Amino acid sequence: MLSFKLAEKRHSIRSYKTKALSGSDLSVLKQLIEEAPVFSNDSGLKMVLVQNGSELAPKLSGYAGYFGNMIEAPQYIVLTCTQGKLCRKTAGYIGEWLVLNALKHELGACWIEVLDSVNVKRILELNTDDEAVAMIAFGYPKKEHQMSSIYANMGQNSLSSLTDMGYPNITADFSQAPTRDRKTIMAFVYLNEWGVTPELENLEKLGLHEALFYMRLAPSYGNRQPWMFLIRNSGIDLIVETSDKISGTIQCLDAGIAMFYLEVGLKDSGFRGSWNLDEGLRDDSIPEGYAFAGRYVFE
Ligand SMILES: Cc1cc2nc3c(=O)[nH]c(=O)nc-3n(C[C@H](O)[C@H](O)[C@H](O)COP(=O)(O)O)c2cc1C
Repeated sequence: MLSFKLAEKRHSIRSYKTKALSGSDLSVLKQLIEEAPVFSNDSGLKMVLVQNGSELAPKLSGYAGYFGNMIEAPQYIVLTCTQGKLCRKTAGYIGEWLVLNALKHELGACWIEVLDSVNVKRILELNTDDEAVAMIAFGYPKKEHQMSSIYANMGQNSLSSLTDMGYPNITADFSQAPTRDRKTIMAFVYLNEWGVTPELENLEKLGLHEALFYMRLAPSYGNRQPWMFLIRNSGIDLIVETSDKISGTIQCLDAGIAMFYLEVGLKDSGFRGSWNLDEGLRDDSIPEGYAFAGRYVFE
């Protein structure tokens, strides 16, 4: 069972030992790909394990990673999709399942944005018409402290760890807080109606506080944490903040990751249910700038 402890331990690893994974750890990754849960039937998601990562990483520079800064790792899993949001949300959900399950085997991981699918597929020799929507690096972590500082001290011209890590010209579009800074629960939860923030006590009475606390640990692109949750009698709506600066693919990946975390948190808290992604469920009161991503419907 995936638990709070596991997610608390999780953080993005951006610096890996160059050695390839041992035979048994490689088998773990292969097995995870085979055993990944089904989030949605016929989503079209495929996962490909790439093994000579250290050799390929320099070639991928400019085509993947924030601002084209590729993260070098001995192994990657590439997630490819057919058209449509469903596959991209599924990629987020399943990809993060892979990350947390790999962590059980002490393998570090980091999501990597794909900026140019055509060139990524060419370099990785992936013969498919599908789009490479994301990569995930896997390997043995090098220096633990390096991974959480990517968004630290990111004011312009600051000599922060970002400069060391090859992000000299980063602009503070997303967050000025240290990487792992997370919003408080109250900043992303509404009860019954959009805009109505509940007391923590109400969430405790409903038994939802732990699941929502767990939600805070989810990773997101640029640590945006774009999610809002609207609690209803029948379930919980995931509403995501949209952005015209970020691709639709990334926004769907973030939504899928959020769905995975909320579901794990709810299941750990004893709530059974499943996600309904039918956009017809969208509540008209949701303001512009936000999109309905799915409803977790209680059984
Ligand atoms: C869809 C997605 C794409 C990401 N792409 C990158 C990337 O290209 N480069 C990178 O260094 N981190 C990337 N990240 C990692 C986030 O920056 C990281 O999850 C976030 O800052 C929170 O930090 P944490 O994962 O250590 O908790 C990505 C995360 C997500 C969810």
